Amino acid sequence: MRRIKIFDTTLRDGEQSPGCSMNLNEKAVMAQQLDKLGVDVIEAGFAIASPMDFKSVQTIASALSENTSCVVASLARAAKGDIDLAWDAVKNAKNPRIHVFIATSDVHMKYKLRMTPEQVLNTVSEMVAYAKSFCDDIEFSAEDASRSEPEFLAKVYSNAIAAGATTINVPDTVGYSTPQEMSNLITYLREHVTGIDKVDISVHCHNDLGMGVANSLACIKAGASQVECTINGIGERAGNASLEEIVMALRTRKDFYDADTNINSKQIYRSSKLLSNIIGVPIWPTKPVVGSNAFAHEAGIHQHGVIANTQTYEIMNPEDIGVPHNTLVLGKHSGKHALRERLESMGYDLSDKELEEIFVKFKNLADKKKNITSSDLEALILHGNKHDANAELQFISHVVNAGRDVPNISCIKLERGGEILQDVAMGAGPLDASFKAINKMLGVDVKLHSFSLNAVTDGEDAIGEAIVKISDNNNNNKIFSGSGLSTDIIESSIRAYLNGINKMLESEN
Ligand code: KIV
Ligand code: ZN
Repeated sequence: MRRIKIFDTTLRDGEQSPGCSMNLNEKAVMAQQLDKLGVDVIEAGFAIASPMDFKSVQTIASALSENTSCVVASLARAAKGDIDLAWDAVKNAKNPRIHVFIATSDVHMKYKLRMTPEQVLNTVSEMVAYAKSFCDDIEFSAEDASRSEPEFLAKVYSNAIAAGATTINVPDTVGYSTPQEMSNLITYLREHVTGIDKVDISVHCHNDLGMGVANSLACIKAGASQVECTINGIGERAGNASLEEIVMALRTRKDFYDADTNINSKQIYRSSKLLSNIIGVPIWPTKPVVGSNAFAHEAGIHQHGVIANTQTYEIMNPEDIGVPHNTLVLGKHSGKHALRERLESMGYDLSDKELEEIFVKFKNLADKKKNITSSDLEALILHGNKHDANAELQFISHVVNAGRDVPNISCIKLERGGEILQDVAMGAGPLDASFKAINKMLGVDVKLHSFSLNAVTDGEDAIGEAIVKISDNNNNNKIFSGSGLSTDIIESSIRAYLNGINKMLESEN
């Protein structure tokens, strides 16, 4: 059976998409989870894009555990300055990679690069060789490969391999190709690129026509040995091929693909939830593999079949991707030992310090909510990842007076670097008043792009999760998402708003 390498680009291509940005700490938390998931390569960012991108790649490169086998890559255009920074950012990784790219389609070369094909060919040789002078592991991508002249493309990849590339990546950059075309392209390249049998053939398929996963799988069938993908399929425009769908397609249809990955599938559900929680982008219920309906059977005839034998309507086992059983678990009188046991059975192995923090949150929740289920615990853990304890602004309390024919007034108390801040404001409703009070006391000009509130657990005493998307009104380009959790929906909304502002302030500093 062939072993396909999983190159995860959630933190680069994924993070590039609007509304999916992550701060340094969130990227580091996500990278640890990707390592646990068992991806072969983490593309941690595009080091030259901004000082923040550089810092995140550098942090992730040094933060993975000593015995990780995961490669950490930084993207770089085929230019010395990019490659210098990429190397600087990844050089402390146990397994560093520089990922060099240049566009090769006529339209990109003519209008974007303003270079002739000859100049592109020479640049590939020079820049791959330059990257190779720093690092053994070099990936080369021909951007817009699927719309490039195949003969020219074969020359480009042959040059890249001759200059030292160890992986050649074939992107369907604009998600234009069909599975048959991608498969034919891989076959063509295998026959025409000099030295191709010594390197990994990678594919990177965007999802503009909804064929990202199908295209990636067709390439694997045609001989690709690495696939680039993202958790939940996030990425530029309509996103990238989704990691969980590719991995589970290979696993479920081993009979057809005769290929598998190194992914620990029990970590898939957790990785998907963690990302969704960090970026504040919900998972669509019918999303394959990880959507909330992926294993729900509504029609009576289906339910009957599944009860008789799960194989009637289930081709995958929810336990295999780590979906927790939402059985009743703990209550107000449960102790730390019971909590640890329950979390372990859900696949979380926490340090004593982490357990202590979750235990405090668990006790607070148990005061308000009678039965604590797996979903409650999961929600506490996911929000624990935000490390709000280190954030600049800390929420202390709120008092709200709201109603139909009364003025809606909110008084908010916060702490900033040991100093207590307090202010009051009137608004169209309790949330408007609360957000205005926060803006007033901080002197910030915030634009609220969206707000949503969902019950993340069951019952009347469910935990409500609020998600906001905000930006600095003087700099609308960058959108920050914030989320907050509480059994009190006004409190979760205030916490979400503050979480977003904390990220906004952090990026401005
Ligand atoms: O879509 C694309 O072509 C890319 C390359 C930089 C690999 O993201
Ligand atoms: Zn891409």
